Amino acid sequence: MKVGVLKETLPGERRVALVPDVVGKIRAAGADVLVETGAGITASFPDVMYTDAGATVVSAEELYAHADVLLKVQKPTEVEVGRLRSGQTLVGLLSPLLDPQLMKTLAARGVTAISLDAIPRTLSRAQSMDVLSSQANIGGYKAVLVAAEAFGRYFPLLTTAAGTAKPANVLVLGIGVAGLQAIGTARRLGAVVKAYDVRPETKEQAESLGAQFVTLKSTIDATGAGGYARALTPEEQAAQQSELNVVIGSMDVVITTAQVPGRKPPLLVTSAAVRGMKPGSVILDMAASALGGNCELSVPGETVVTDGGVTILAPENLPATVPISASQFYSRNVTALLLHLLKDGALDIELTEEITAGVVITYGGHVVQPATARLLEPAPVAGGAA
Ligand code: NAI
Repeated sequence: MKVGVLKETLPGERRVALVPDVVGKIRAAGADVLVETGAGITASFPDVMYTDAGATVVSAEELYAHADVLLKVQKPTEVEVGRLRSGQTLVGLLSPLLDPQLMKTLAARGVTAISLDAIPRTLSRAQSMDVLSSQANIGGYKAVLVAAEAFGRYFPLLTTAAGTAKPANVLVLGIGVAGLQAIGTARRLGAVVKAYDVRPETKEQAESLGAQFVTLKSTIDATGAGGYARALTPEEQAAQQSELNVVIGSMDVVITTAQVPGRKPPLLVTSAAVRGMKPGSVILDMAASALGGNCELSVPGETVVTDGGVTILAPENLPATVPISASQFYSRNVTALLLHLLKDGALDIELTEEITAGVVITYGGHVVQPATARLLEPAPVAGGAA
């Protein structure tokens, strides 16, 4: 079997799906590794590092022609989809629930699509394959650095001959993977950190990293299934927003990371809350996407500065800005999944196995993952059958 590593084509994507370090592991499992020329250069892994590790560096044409399994980070463009052959397997962050039509196209082309964002996050034996967590961790770290750079004051308490600088007050909203790393990073920079989440179990986790947990009077326990939060009712959301508005007003930097899977990001920082912030304050909305964000005023990929002097950042791909570490972690996740699927030198797609059932979206010409397949079902006819 030949595993191929494609060069990313999305502007700004500097990660590579496989770093030279893990080539040996894949070869030891009985597969050859082909790497597209220049695939790793944006993450500081030149071709020679791959050849030294035992991979073969080839052109894109050769890769598409000979690889059985193609590894990517981002989902393929139309041109890339057009180059895939029937019988090939594509592995990447394919976002099947956001783009079910792409999955339909891949199925029709006879491509087996494996999406790393569909790894069952709650299965402990899948943790080593959990790309969303490894990348959100990096995102949470970089979010604080980006916010600190946009903030016009020091983060730490500093006493100098020219006077004392007060530490920055940082609020982290959403204490999941990204939020915990954001708390840790802001603390390491010397900020005073508060954090809030609707799952009460996060209180202890935040406190263990040195943050003060914000307890609202309208105590909301929104623990949902699978370690995630459930969506709030409109009444709960209104109560949460009005109490959070007061807390946000006293903060210098707010990092938002709240999400409920499969839903629009919850709105936590309203425009009224932004108006209540001091000039020079910074909000970094990690959850911002085309679906919306945690902050009412964030614009994905843009920096907004309000009339009141508050800067709102919504960077779309923070992990790509830490390309070496992000690629290393991504590679380890991908390798763990490949080794899980590899049997006797080939991928063994056993759809009754829990991890395989989660990640394999298309197989044998069909969209096989139920959640994605449901999105492709024709909408019911209004009024129903006569
Ligand atoms: P996660 O699921 O581990 O954490 C989300 C947290 O939000 C959970 O602890 C949940 O309880 C909390 N939450 C949900 N509803 C809430 C509410 N109404 N109020 C307060 N907390 C609430 O998610 P993860 O992996 O930490 O990712 C966080 C976000 O960051 C996601 O939207 C993800 O897509 C995004 N992300 C963005 C990146 C970027 O470059 N902008 C990079 C990586 C992740």
